[in-house]
Amino acid sequence: MDRVVIEDDNDGEDDTGTGGCRGIWPLRHSACTYARPGPNTRPKSKEADMMDRHLREMLNDQFNKELYSAYLYMDFADYYHNRGLHGFGNWYDVQVQEERDHAMLMRAWMLKRGETIELLPIAKPDKTITDDVDPLHFALAHEQYVTGLIHTLHDATEAAGDTDSAKFLDWFVKEQVEEEENATSMIERYDKAVADGTLEALDTELKGRRWKAPSLHVDIF
Ligand SMILES: [Fe+2]
Ligand SMILES: [Fe+2]
Repeated sequence: MDRVVIEDDNDGEDDTGTGGCRGIWPLRHSACTYARPGPNTRPKSKEADMMDRHLREMLNDQFNKELYSAYLYMDFADYYHNRGLHGFGNWYDVQVQEERDHAMLMRAWMLKRGETIELLPIAKPDKTITDDVDPLHFALAHEQYVTGLIHTLHDATEAAGDTDSAKFLDWFVKEQVEEEENATSMIERYDKAVADGTLEALDTELKGRRWKAPSLHVDIF
């Protein structure tokens, strides 16, 4: 549902038609009941719905970090493709798409709230890979790091009283549980396949992984 901001045009008059209450329709303040905007309202105000400044910066940073995650996994995918392990390469190619999705969701949320996004430089992945198992361990450590970032961000939404952003981030909290489970499982499956001499079969299986659209969708407009 689109949210419409009821805005005071500072002319000293009640612009809300609700006895002086101001806010965002359809959210309700305990003392105010808002009707759909009447003739004295404008459809959108950026200022009235703006995020806490610190929270905005954190979200912008997380948007950049999701793009870095995509870069990191692209580096891993390239490593495996060069090694002829195309199933593992495919696994990380799909990870790249997922991380891009995460970034695009952050961007969509900020745009929906009328925020500007600063496109910061994306850091160069700096992991040194000396063994085929290395990217799997780097990936798990990275996901654990991202989980910490998402929790810190979630805490910041609550501190700012931004319940809409907190709800938006609930999806990412759950997503990180899945990301860590997948990363852990990949290490276990790799170790078992090496021990059993079935690495080729595992690589073939991983070629079947396909990208799926995220279960969260944010309408910008
Ligand atoms: Fe992510
Ligand atoms: Fe991730």
